[in-house]
Amino acid sequence: MFAVQTGQQLVYDAMDVEPGRFAAAVGEFRAGGGRGLNVTVPFKEQAWALAEQRSARAQRAGAVNTLVFDGDGPIFGDNTDGLGLVRDLTVNQGVMLEGRRVLLVGAGGAARGVLEPLLAQRPALLVIANRTPEKAVELARLFCDLGHVEGCGFPVLDGQRFDVVINATAAGLQGEVPPLPTDVAAADGWCYDMMYGSGPTAFVRWARQQGVAHAVDGLGMLVEQAAESFRIWRGVRPLSAPVIAALRAELAAAD
Ligand code: ATR
Repeated sequence: MFAVQTGQQLVYDAMDVEPGRFAAAVGEFRAGGGRGLNVTVPFKEQAWALAEQRSARAQRAGAVNTLVFDGDGPIFGDNTDGLGLVRDLTVNQGVMLEGRRVLLVGAGGAARGVLEPLLAQRPALLVIANRTPEKAVELARLFCDLGHVEGCGFPVLDGQRFDVVINATAAGLQGEVPPLPTDVAAADGWCYDMMYGSGPTAFVRWARQQGVAHAVDGLGMLVEQAAESFRIWRGVRPLSAPVIAALRAELAAAD
């Protein structure tokens, strides 16, 4: 859809790669004339390791979702996930992050990938909460030079209130929701799930049950990270809104 919109001639397809064959598959793709790849779970860390040059944000994220091949030159790796999240929140949803209290739930690769762009928005406080508190504390330590960021477990959140709560855990894969205290999200605040699906995700349903004013899934983030990858490859930024709308309609039809 981006290529049609911007008049670019290209082929973009999905490749299913066996675990353990990532580097080989990238090598074959490149040998066949491939110019760039989006990489998704569980290969983002391997893509980071394969990249010979990385953007600063990818370097810190420890994960790469965009690879660029330029002839025989070094493989370039970038990470557009965080920018995708921030763009969907701020541009598409109109959420102001500056000066806000933001809670990031989860401390795995998905959380780490979005921390730098989130902190660049200058929230008043960013708390990382995780089932395994040590991982959240460690992640906060790694990013503490970029803003006011703290790590903790879920019980510590009791009695705290946040303007924006972002779910970066894998709990939704099992249809589960992290055990957050009730009222952790302000009633007029936002709950954002980095996951998406054909219907409302478990976290979005939880947020609605809590009576939180705004509950959004991660479809917009998916499209925004892809738009930024497209810009890196092709030098032109496509419009994301019509693509989000088309995907949303497709998902609704499949539901
Ligand atoms: P990803 O790359 O998707 O972040 P990951 O690195 O395996 O995957 O991290 C998964 C995250 O989801 C972790 O923060 C994990 O918590 P732990 O660090 O305590 O394992 C979190 N997670 C997974 N299932 C969960 C559940 N049912 N409830 C709460 N958190 C969960």
